[in-house]
Amino acid sequence: MENINDYINTNKDRFINELIELLKIPSISADTAFSQDVLETARVVERSLSEAGCDNTEICETKGYPVVYGEKTIDPNLPTILVYGHYDVQPPDPMDLWESPPFEPVIKETKLHPDGAIFARGACDDKGQFYMHVKAVEFMIKNNTLPCNVKFMIEGEEEVGSDSLADFLNDHKDKLANDIILISDTGMMANDVPSITTGLRGLSYVEVEVTGPNRDLHSGIYGGAVPNPINVLSKMIASLHDENNHITIPGFYDKVEALSKEERAEMAKAPFDIEDYKEALDIGDVYGEEGYSTPERYSIRPTLDVNGIWGGYTGEGAKTVIASKAYAKISMRLVPHQNPDEITQMFMDHFQAIAPKGVKVKVAPHHGGLPYVTPTDSIGYKAASKAYEKTFGKTPIPERTGGSIPIVALFEKVLESKTILMGFGLDSDAIHSPNEHFGVWNFLKGIETIPYFYKYYTELATS
Ligand code: BES
Ligand code: MN
Ligand code: MN
Repeated sequence: MENINDYINTNKDRFINELIELLKIPSISADTAFSQDVLETARVVERSLSEAGCDNTEICETKGYPVVYGEKTIDPNLPTILVYGHYDVQPPDPMDLWESPPFEPVIKETKLHPDGAIFARGACDDKGQFYMHVKAVEFMIKNNTLPCNVKFMIEGEEEVGSDSLADFLNDHKDKLANDIILISDTGMMANDVPSITTGLRGLSYVEVEVTGPNRDLHSGIYGGAVPNPINVLSKMIASLHDENNHITIPGFYDKVEALSKEERAEMAKAPFDIEDYKEALDIGDVYGEEGYSTPERYSIRPTLDVNGIWGGYTGEGAKTVIASKAYAKISMRLVPHQNPDEITQMFMDHFQAIAPKGVKVKVAPHHGGLPYVTPTDSIGYKAASKAYEKTFGKTPIPERTGGSIPIVALFEKVLESKTILMGFGLDSDAIHSPNEHFGVWNFLKGIETIPYFYKYYTELATS
């Protein structure tokens, strides 16, 4: 394994150029105008797996966008690692906030990435991160140092809820059989503070529609005398949190796992600077649930946030109007033991119950997902920890994150495997935002670290 550094030094320009080509294709799964690009990306990913030395590469059809598969079996008696990632990306909008076009990757230096970062939609989430695995496996195959078997499944619908994946898992249990799942689709604390993600939040996502009068009205003639759906919706949304920023939906917290004093004290030891946090986001103060620290608020506590709200006149100038309808998209991040279906139902019941008589309310559920927490005493975690120790010279800190990868809970249910989340991005890499980027150093460090996971995992699993 020691020659991984030589291999990276010799090949890093090629690695970066290959990733840049992948980033040029706008594989936006949310927008059907890009469906040909999504399919083209799947073909490029398949080719990259086969060029890396994988066998039986395949573009597997699903109800939606395909899953790209590839494998290398060296000995059926050895353990098998299943690498999961996603080749689809979030829509790039708002376009005018990008300093360079989202699908024309450029490398620029930043404060946190003095060696340069690749700016493009998908650079960190998740093309740059799954591609580290393709290159790490390329190294191990070409150098005859692959210590175990590997399978890849790279999907194309993660950013829209992985709707086709449950069927895909159930239909291909044997093909996907593995000992452990390895994913790089999260972050780490800082380049000099490696961490391993041990928890993901779940998700319940709804869209609401409030209808007042049967048509848009003159806000002078009717204003004050009829329910204005935008006013009403704002009030209803505001009432979903109380004065301590607790969520008011009855039953919402019933199943929430409470962490022990010891667990919270352990969490508080992780480095976190509130002043840096405020400064990075240019906020005068943090905000959130009373009684919890900022890291607790974004990781171990459930939340409710409006993701979008619209209605009425939003064009140039002023138009005096009372709209007939108002809308909002609302996400709830969930923590262990909360069930997304139950939470969605609670939200729907509550939102109907708090609607004033004068309006009609519709609530439509979108995708959801279960939370996930992985133990730190498994051989998978130990192998990952040793791999970071080897390449970062520091023991990584276990960290629960606020984001969601709903498929991880499904992997455990259907494939009965645990997942190890080795993310190499930073929170400041602007995933889902304009100017998303991924540090060149992070990309190469990932490629360097991954082969050690294979080595240590195989040693621990076969001893
Ligand atoms: N890679 C992210 C999830 C993530 C990012 C987890 C950073 C932890 C740290 C993933 O692509 C994502 O964006 N997931 C969505 C959920 C999905 C159902 C659309 C999310 O978390 O909003
Ligand atoms: Mn992702
Ligand atoms: Mn994402």
